[in-house]
This record gives sequence, structure tokens and C-alpha cells, in this order.
Amino acid sequence: MYSQKVMDYFMNPRNMGEIEDASGVGTVGNAKCGDIMRMFLKIDENGIIQDVKFKTFGCGAAIATSSMATELVIGKTVEEALKITNKAVAEALDGLPANKVHCSLLAEEAINAALWDYAKKNNLDIKGLKPPKEDIHEDEIDEEEE
Ligand code: FES
Repeated sequence: MYSQKVMDYFMNPRNMGEIEDASGVGTVGNAKCGDIMRMFLKIDENGIIQDVKFKTFGCGAAIATSSMATELVIGKTVEEALKITNKAVAEALDGLPANKVHCSLLAEEAINAALWDYAKKNNLDIKGLKPPKEDIHEDEIDEEEE
């Protein structure tokens, strides 16, 4: 079952919406469940993430994880934000049921995709930043945890 925190972030999502003049926007999806997540980042000239908003078309866990992810990256540097894993997002929500872990992976990848967009727009080479994946599968969770 869902933790109270997941329920809270699902019922009262933080930072839901869009940033019109975002520094970077990333959209990712999981073809299997059909869920889609979009992240908007506002990054200042020092590379600090000043604002984050999300829009998620998906399950409750996808909404809760994307909302939690926005809170985890706000105020961080781009490099710090890159290090936030789906595990950290799930832990911040007091855990997720096994069949919902892929939802947190979507949140990690959405941040990555938004950072990629920001780097591309500004011609930046950010260490550790990888091109966004087309489709986020559950199989990738196993690879990451090995
Ligand atoms: Fe796919 Fe939640 S069921 S993101």
C-alpha cells in the first residue's frame, strides 16, 4: 500500500504547473503504462535551480514522485540535481510498492531530460548528463540496482 506521504503528495501535489520561460523542459514517458511526465526548470546564471514545476499525466505514484522530485531539486545546483536518483525520491516518500518503483524512475528521468534541454540551449557540457531516454522501462530499474 501507499505510505501516508505518497497519499499526501498525490492529494496535495507541490509545484504543479508550468514555467513559461523555463531554462529547461523535459518530457518522458513509459509506453507500458502510458504515463507521461514533464518537468520545467528555472536555472539562474550561477547554475542554481530557482524554480521547478511539473505536469504529470499518470498514476498517483507518478504524481507524488514528480512532486517530491521538484522539492528535492529546488535550490540545488545542476550537478547536485543530476545526482538525485529515483531511490532518493522513493525514500523521501517513505517508500513505494514494488510495482510502482518505475514511477519514481520516470521522475528521475524527467529531471535529467529537463537538464539536458537546459545544457543544449546554453551549450553547456555537464559532467554525468546523459541524453534522455525515449521510453522508461521497468527493466532499467533492475539494471540500476545491480
Ligand atoms: Fe506508470 Fe505510475 S503506473 S508511472
